[in-house]
Amino acid sequence: MRSKILLISIFLIAIIGIAGNTSQLFSEEANQGEGEKKEKSELAKLMEEIDKNYKATEEISGYYNYKDEEWKIIGDSSAKLIELCKIAVKKFARPDDEKYQKLNKSMLEEAEKMHEVYTRRDQIGALEDAQWQVRRLRQTCALCHKHLGIHIYPNLYPGHTDWGVK
Ligand code: HEC
Repeated sequence: MRSKILLISIFLIAIIGIAGNTSQLFSEEANQGEGEKKEKSELAKLMEEIDKNYKATEEISGYYNYKDEEWKIIGDSSAKLIELCKIAVKKFARPDDEKYQKLNKSMLEEAEKMHEVYTRRDQIGALEDAQWQVRRLRQTCALCHKHLGIHIYPNLYPGHTDWGVK
């Protein structure tokens, strides 16, 4: 009788143990998923914002004419890009990587030039200059990502093969 109780106890303990382990396993898996989301670096989040604003200007870059609506996109996006690029330059500097630093600053400068074009949007040639700036900006993205071996950019824009990188 005693040995029967002992056997049942061992059996129960084993089941509880297995159940405990599996639930732990599942919760670990769940945590891992969350962790991946949380692990997105501050720089990656900043890049996402930069990307959003860059894309807004890229989307209209094939137009033959910019009306007020399109100029507003150029004006707003470039203003936002200047803000974001300043954060990139200040907060995410890499003093040990000269090329990175240079490209980080170029990105800011090209955004500033884009905004400067916006301020003279009524003048002849402004449309072409704005579209040129979109390309200049994209070149800084492509060059820095290439420098770091980040291949994410071409994938985001299927069909774009010449990233201005020669
Ligand atoms: C000076 C270097 C540099 C420049 C210039 C640069 N990037 Fe990045 N970019 C990075 C780095 C570094 C990462 C990887 C960040 C990480 O995962 O921590 C990155 C990642 C990204 C990502 C992926 C973010 C994610 O969700 O993981 C996007 C999108 C992106 N960049 C867009 C752009 C765009 C658009 C431009 C140009 C307007 C640009 N980048 C210019 C360095 C740069």
